Amino acid sequence: MNSKLVNNLLKFDREHICHPYTSMKDPLPVYPVASANGVRIRLMDGRELIDGMSSWWAAIHGYNHPELNRAAREQIEAMSHVMFGGLTHRPAVELAEILLSIAPAPLQKIFFCDSGSVAVEVAIKMAIQYWSALGFAKKQRLLTVRSGYHGDTFGAMAVCDPETGMHGIFKDILPKHLFAEMPMAGYAAQWDERYIEGFKKILAENHESIAAIILEPIVQGAGGMRFYSPIYLKRIRELADEFNVLLILDEIATGFGRTGTMFACEHAGIEPDIMCIGKALTGGYMSLAATLATEKVSDGISSGEAGAFMHGPTFMANPLACSIALASVRLLLSSPWKEKISAIEDQLKEGLAPCAEHHNVQDVRVLGAIGVVELKSPVNMEKIQKKFVDRGIWLRPFGRLLYTMPPYIIEKEDLARITGAITEVLREGGHV
Ligand SMILES: Cc1ncc(COP(=O)(O)O)c(C=O)c1O
Repeated sequence: MNSKLVNNLLKFDREHICHPYTSMKDPLPVYPVASANGVRIRLMDGRELIDGMSSWWAAIHGYNHPELNRAAREQIEAMSHVMFGGLTHRPAVELAEILLSIAPAPLQKIFFCDSGSVAVEVAIKMAIQYWSALGFAKKQRLLTVRSGYHGDTFGAMAVCDPETGMHGIFKDILPKHLFAEMPMAGYAAQWDERYIEGFKKILAENHESIAAIILEPIVQGAGGMRFYSPIYLKRIRELADEFNVLLILDEIATGFGRTGTMFACEHAGIEPDIMCIGKALTGGYMSLAATLATEKVSDGISSGEAGAFMHGPTFMANPLACSIALASVRLLLSSPWKEKISAIEDQLKEGLAPCAEHHNVQDVRVLGAIGVVELKSPVNMEKIQKKFVDRGIWLRPFGRLLYTMPPYIIEKEDLARITGAITEVLREGGHV
């Protein structure tokens, strides 16, 4: 690729294009990508990087997958999009059928939307509209925990961790919800009922104004990559029933096998009233998400004055995205995904174990195909990113977290290169 073209691209990008959470005045460097195939991302200068991020939990089958490509091509030949008001189509119906067959059994209604954040907005609106329809107009607030992340739109932002979710900047416009302390029991911790006391107290005191509890099940992702006890989640389900509030689970990051079960709520053996999915839904090909609900919730909503759920995006159930998602879910179900994720888990545990010895490491943890090295001090993103790129690895550390969630198709040797690079970069230092 000619270097003048690359430089021009980078110059325009730097001067005009926003990147996620990046200064527009003094942006961090970005690496121009020419193509991606399997677990390899090829940069425009010809270098190849092993992907340790699955493009933020999404590309579970790797890039440029022939079956997903075929689904996209065939669907484009038929139709890329038609409106969903008054029309329906096979990709949406078949995708809905397969999703409802793998989701927790009581979830039998599905709302397709554009992105994870919108799926969360839809979930919140469903919960509030449900109670309003039943005559509980006061039930409008949400209860959640600190260190959570649910997206960047206003409704979603209002249930993100108050600090990392920037509640200070938007304080006059964000709805005021309730926050309990973050779950303190780690995944395998011995259960102590005191872990849930604070949460229970807030719920007991405020349940008359609470429509729903919203949580990321088992793994708190962007808010700190923390794994918490399935018993905590089980107790939350019980408390939601006891105090008559709905339970919304945000499986946008954890869904489709990432934690070792199809959905993370299965670790706790519980079922939500409303569930959000996204990210890996299309195998990382395009943006599509969905909010699933029980009959109880959907019947409640439809019995209200409005008579219908009040939401309807232009690109709802986009046929192209639905076809690719259908191919992606079928591909997952036809693969030995459980064994593969369990093998990745074992290898991550072994490969990252030496990091625990490092003086700047607070904790090393692994769950399913997620490996996390939590440092004691924040990394310098630019420096550390370059160190990984120089070693042929694509990772995107943030704050005090070095983490990987590779595509499920990754081979042993490539995963060893990722864990090896993390260990080496830590040992080498100069990244904080
Ligand atoms: C748990 C969770 N919920 C919601 C979202 C928002 O999804 P999107 O970025 O597709 O809007 C994310 C994205 O990182 C997420 O991890």
